[in-house]
Amino acid sequence: MSKRKGIVLAGGVATRLFPLTLSISKQIMPVYDKPMIYYPISVLMEANIKEILIISTPAYINTFKELLGDGSKWGISFTYKVQEKPNGLAEAFILGEEFIGNSNVAMILGDNMFYGNNLNKILKSADERENEATIFGYYVKDPTAYGVVEIDENKRAISIEEKPKVPKSNYAVPGLYFYPNSVVEIAKKIKPSARGELEITEVSSEYMRRNLLKVEILGRQMVWFDTGTYDSLLETASFVQTIEKRQGIQICCPEEIAYKKGWISTNELSNLADKLMKTEYGKFLKDLAENKIIF
Ligand code: TTP
Repeated sequence: MSKRKGIVLAGGVATRLFPLTLSISKQIMPVYDKPMIYYPISVLMEANIKEILIISTPAYINTFKELLGDGSKWGISFTYKVQEKPNGLAEAFILGEEFIGNSNVAMILGDNMFYGNNLNKILKSADERENEATIFGYYVKDPTAYGVVEIDENKRAISIEEKPKVPKSNYAVPGLYFYPNSVVEIAKKIKPSARGELEITEVSSEYMRRNLLKVEILGRQMVWFDTGTYDSLLETASFVQTIEKRQGIQICCPEEIAYKKGWISTNELSNLADKLMKTEYGKFLKDLAENKIIF
């Protein structure tokens, strides 16, 4: 089991989804059949991370507590922390200092979803890199809305820039970061950027300068969405719907992951399913508990 702790950063303002998000948290909104935050939580669970800190705004932190509770229903533990203002992604490590303690940490953004064949393997190798940081690179047509990483022929990062107007590569950096424990000290030293945020690119750049940054390229077999705009929200939901309906499987289903990892019993899974029996989601969980699903 991983000793690494996990953070889901689920605050922010979500201005690109207004008016949808004027009175609701982005990360609670539906992505087809699940609240958005189920997707990033599933990724941390896939990485064998069982202790997870949920960070959100003063207005919405209780919504997440209501939805997720203490995590015991999925055999894991959730703790909660308020971010008073959207001061930037790197603030997660300052807010999370006590939670992180002496551990290494993986942070994922609450509006990111990953799905793909060898996700498990990729997560495992990132987790095993105890003294090095791992970020990911994902080839996109237009990376200007993201952090952009430039890599050399040995796949070492040579530059990382936040939302560059003229990107040096097409590799966007998805919102999933594996850092050693030193991230807490590094985050504390960062100064706010011109837009007033503690930038995660600054954290990764520091690891790059220390020659401790690994960039893992996510290939074509991997799907990464961030669901921060009308279109990407709808596209992600359509993607989930298409795969789930066609194959009768679930994408990023925390109950399934918990069960397969042995964190909840057959009985517990069956009880979770009972509450959802009017849905395909619930029926899937029931079939899983009754051993009717073969992978
Ligand atoms: P963004 O999508 O960059 O910001 P946002 O969610 O406020 O949306 P918009 O650009 O439409 O205004 O944030 C990425 C993720 O990080 C998202 O899940 C929100 C979260 N976040 C925080 O929790 N705290 C922060 O300080 C920032 C900047 C983002």
